[in-house]
This record gives sequence, structure tokens and C-alpha cells, in this order.
Amino acid sequence: MDRLNEIARKHNLVVIEDCAEAHGAKCRGRVVGGLGDMGCFSFYANKVITTGEGGMVVTNDLKLAERLRSLRNLAFTSPRYWHEHAGFNFRMTGYQAAFGVAQLKKIDAVIDKKRSVAQRYSRALAGVPGLQLPTQKDWAFNVYWMYALTVGPDYPLSRDELAAYLKARGIDTRTFFCPMNQQPCLQQRPGYRKVACPVADELWETGLYLPSAPNLSDEDIKTVCDEIARAARHL
Ligand SMILES: Cc1ncc(COP(=O)(O)O)c(C=O)c1O
Repeated sequence: MDRLNEIARKHNLVVIEDCAEAHGAKCRGRVVGGLGDMGCFSFYANKVITTGEGGMVVTNDLKLAERLRSLRNLAFTSPRYWHEHAGFNFRMTGYQAAFGVAQLKKIDAVIDKKRSVAQRYSRALAGVPGLQLPTQKDWAFNVYWMYALTVGPDYPLSRDELAAYLKARGIDTRTFFCPMNQQPCLQQRPGYRKVACPVADELWETGLYLPSAPNLSDEDIKTVCDEIARAARHL
């Protein structure tokens, strides 16, 4: 983020953090969302805290905050019903906000549970060859929204084969997100340039999220890890 902010300052760009999944995560002692000009959090149902749907933009820039508040509510100006800009109806309902306030009170406990899930997975999967497990750098605080690993060439199954093996045993997983350079809807846009993104491409091929609900029991985690180890031994 330091480097991105430096480049943005040089070229007069705005940095928008996508911290949709990272509520409470820290980078060099600072919480994410406050590292760029704006931070966007998701409150979709599977996130660290949720309002069912919706999200939040944070910024320390009062002018930007004012503009965001206006755009959220159809960009009303004065006189009312006079629109200098085309706005959006992105208003959050009072019910959702109340839900969010109650969720926020529990965020530390949810993050503790997410971190405990990650610790238990990492302990149980440490000896399985070919898996790259998530780690936490000493300057970071990872909230482990999902337990994310990659399935490398030393594991006997491909990522997709492992996902299918687990699915057949009642264990659902998700792949990582598809990178932007491969998205057909972006490739069709004017000005699209083909660029090589080998790291993102590889993560798209090999990344797997394991079940990551904060209330997973020791037994649940053991079942998932035993199956991953068994799948490796079978071939
Ligand atoms: C990294 C990232 N960005 C953006 C989003 C989109 O969030 P929303 O569905 O609230 O728009 C998600 C949701 O999973 C996400 O993980």
C-alpha cells in the first residue's frame, strides 16, 4: 500500500482499497480501510460482519465523504429534485444499520474465532505435501475471512480434483476469485489490452477456500483435514 500510495501521489490518482473481506485486518499497525483515500467494506452475508447485503465506504477526506453521501442518495442538491450529477439509490435501511451496529459489537469475538479456525487448520495440514498454507507476516494481522490455501504440483491431485473429492464427501469449498485480466466482460471493453498476470493466473488455477465458518468445531476441522490427507494418500 505504501508503494501504491506513492505512485498515486506522483500521478495525482485516488487509491480505493478493496477491503471487502478484511474487516479488522491490520497492516503495519494500521487497520485496513485507512491506508488509501477510501476503503470499501462488504457486509454481504458471508463476510466477517454482515447486514445481509450492503457495504460501507470509509474515508478521512471530508469532501469525498460529502460527495459519497450525496451520490448514495440520488445526488439531490438544492433546490430539491435538481440533479447536478446522476446519483444512485444505495441507501441502507434503518433495519440493516441496526443489524450492523449489533454485529460490530461482536466483531472482536468473530475475528478471534476466525483466527482460531485458521490456526487449527494450519496445525492439522502442516504435514501434507504440496499445499501452501496461509501465513501471517510479522507486520500484518490476518483476520482469515476464509482459510485460503493453494494446491501445488507436489500434491497428487489438482485443485479441481481435490474440490470434487471433498464435495463427494459432503465438504463444500470455493475457488479463489477469477482475476480481472481473464474476465470476458472486461476483455470486451474498449481499450482492453492483453497483459500477462502469471501470479494471479496461477492463484486462479490453484487456490481453494476451505469451509471457514467461525463456529466450526474441532471435529469439523479434523474431518476436512483427514479427507485432504486421505485424498493425497490414495493416489
Ligand atoms: C475482494 C472483494 N471485493 C468485492 C466484493 C463484493 O462485495 P459486495 O458483494 O458487498 O458488493 C467481494 C465479495 O465477496 C470481495 O470478496
